Amino acid sequence: MVFPSQDKSRFAETEYARFRQFLEASCGILLGDNKNYLIDSRLRKLLLDRNLSSLLELLKVIEQPGGRTLRQEVIDAMTTNETLWFRDRHPFTYLQDTLLPELARRPGEISIWCAACSSGQEPYSISICVEAQRRRNMSLTNKQVRILATDISSRVLAQAREGIYEPLALKRGMTDDKLRQYFTAQSDGRWQIKPEIKRRVDFRPINLKENFLSIGKFDVVFCRNVLIYFSSDLQRQILSNIHRVMKPGGYLFLGGSETPKGLNELFEIQYYSPGVVYLKK
Ligand SMILES: C[S@@+](CC[C@H](N)C(=O)[O-])C[C@H]1O[C@@H](n2cnc3c(N)ncnc32)[C@H](O)[C@@H]1O
Repeated sequence: MVFPSQDKSRFAETEYARFRQFLEASCGILLGDNKNYLIDSRLRKLLLDRNLSSLLELLKVIEQPGGRTLRQEVIDAMTTNETLWFRDRHPFTYLQDTLLPELARRPGEISIWCAACSSGQEPYSISICVEAQRRRNMSLTNKQVRILATDISSRVLAQAREGIYEPLALKRGMTDDKLRQYFTAQSDGRWQIKPEIKRRVDFRPINLKENFLSIGKFDVVFCRNVLIYFSSDLQRQILSNIHRVMKPGGYLFLGGSETPKGLNELFEIQYYSPGVVYLKK
């Protein structure tokens, strides 16, 4: 049952275990033994709104033919969408100043995949780097640059597509100078990303746990701060699939704390101070 009287924030162990299985099977996210409170805080409202009294009841509804929307809402609620503009800074500086000029000398378009894009800060930061480099570098001016941005959560994808941000969200990594150059102020105090930044980003739902091999081929992949939620087997599987959708000589950026198993077999590590990027072998 939800909210047992002795502890209002806990579910029974059996239903917690069933829910953990569902979450891992549907999106790869692993919940530890003591994350009972997390499910409670994230699903309490959804359960109350639908008059569902336990996680088992919720799972039963989700598994019915008409349960797709609710299933997506549960996934939306259970994903951690923490993000910011130019997160860690150095990957974006390296992309802008070193990789984009190098990629501009290769034939064909430049394609970049942002594999867990959350509410858009990461792909739009990439697009701002492209725009800034384009204004300085003639060889990039005539190059087609395409950014595919994907996530499992339809809620954050809708926010990303809208491209309108509260001042609080912009304080997290956006400089005043870039804000003035790449955003338009709205009458309600929010800021909208400019069309020249938005137009090269295509947002789509993709579950990294599923087969995504047909999405195209990429020169650069950002897959940052998402593998940490998965088992080491799933990390290895996703890394291998990412390797397969990369062009020869492609570059992979991971989150600062991420070193999934299988990395050294598939990628050569390249150090740039103070970060690292992985070159497809
Ligand atoms: C912590 S955010 C990281 C966002 C961004 N990459 C960054 O570093 O700022 C993790 C994102 O991964 C997404 N995610 C979680 N599981 C996923 C899956 N199986 N497939 C695709 N995206 C997933 C979440 O919805 C969330 O938006």
